[in-house]
Amino acid sequence: MSVLSLKDVHVYIQGSHVLRGVTFEIPSNKVTALLGRNGVGKSTTLKAIMGLRQSTGEITLDGKSIHGKPTYQIVRTGIGYVPEDREIFSMLSVKDNLNIAVRDSEPNFDLVYSLFPELKTRTAQRAGTLSGGQQQMVAISRALLNRNQILLIDEPTKGLAPKLVTEVAESLARVAGESTMLLVEQNLALVKRVAEHILIMDQGKIIFQGEPSHLEDADFVHSMLGVGGRHN
Ligand SMILES: Nc1ncnc2c1ncn2[C@@H]1O[C@H](COP(=O)(O)OP(=O)(O)OP(=O)(O)O)[C@@H](O)[C@H]1O
Ligand SMILES: [Mg+2]
Repeated sequence: MSVLSLKDVHVYIQGSHVLRGVTFEIPSNKVTALLGRNGVGKSTTLKAIMGLRQSTGEITLDGKSIHGKPTYQIVRTGIGYVPEDREIFSMLSVKDNLNIAVRDSEPNFDLVYSLFPELKTRTAQRAGTLSGGQQQMVAISRALLNRNQILLIDEPTKGLAPKLVTEVAESLARVAGESTMLLVEQNLALVKRVAEHILIMDQGKIIFQGEPSHLEDADFVHSMLGVGGRHN
């Protein structure tokens, strides 16, 4: 059963054809990783799903169209989105950052604090003084507080020091067991650890779908994702 489905989604940004017919389905209760080199359209794909980029094509959640709806309605249909830049309120406490995100009448603070016990001891701390890894935990927690059908998480380890990458990877592995997730990530070690399904994007199209075991093949990785960058 697929939770989220995209069919022939196109996005133009300032005259450039960024998404060129993106089609995929996200299976339920699994982590699907969306991979691809820099600038191929991964973040734009998530933004199109969230209604943050104008698109053409079909986008359905649980069989119902969400295409063309305003972002606040898409959020309410049950999508938790953790953007690339985290969007933490640095002057507010951890607790207030979480409270602002509450949408459900019974937000699941128990889940958040059991996944991230570190946050429970820091509820009064100003979010701006947290480590990058802890800030990412807050960003992920905001999406987990409400009952969502799917989580979209954009490069949670981007720009983090190696020690913090490990910390966030641990967190995601814990969340993974509980949810349907579309995870954009360039850290292949993390992808291999948490993903059960992979999508590879190049130049605004999905060029491969399959099992993460393909990532063990160096030639495959080289041809699909190129060399260098943050792949490891
Ligand atoms: N606001 C914008 N204005 C102009 N061009 C944009 C804008 N947002 C994205 N683009 C262009 O669209 C293309 C896809 O960008 P996108 O951010 O989706 O890539 P990405 O795969 O997420 O890359 P990265 O791995 O660097 O995060 C890029 O060529 C980018 O320059
Ligand atoms: Mg991106």
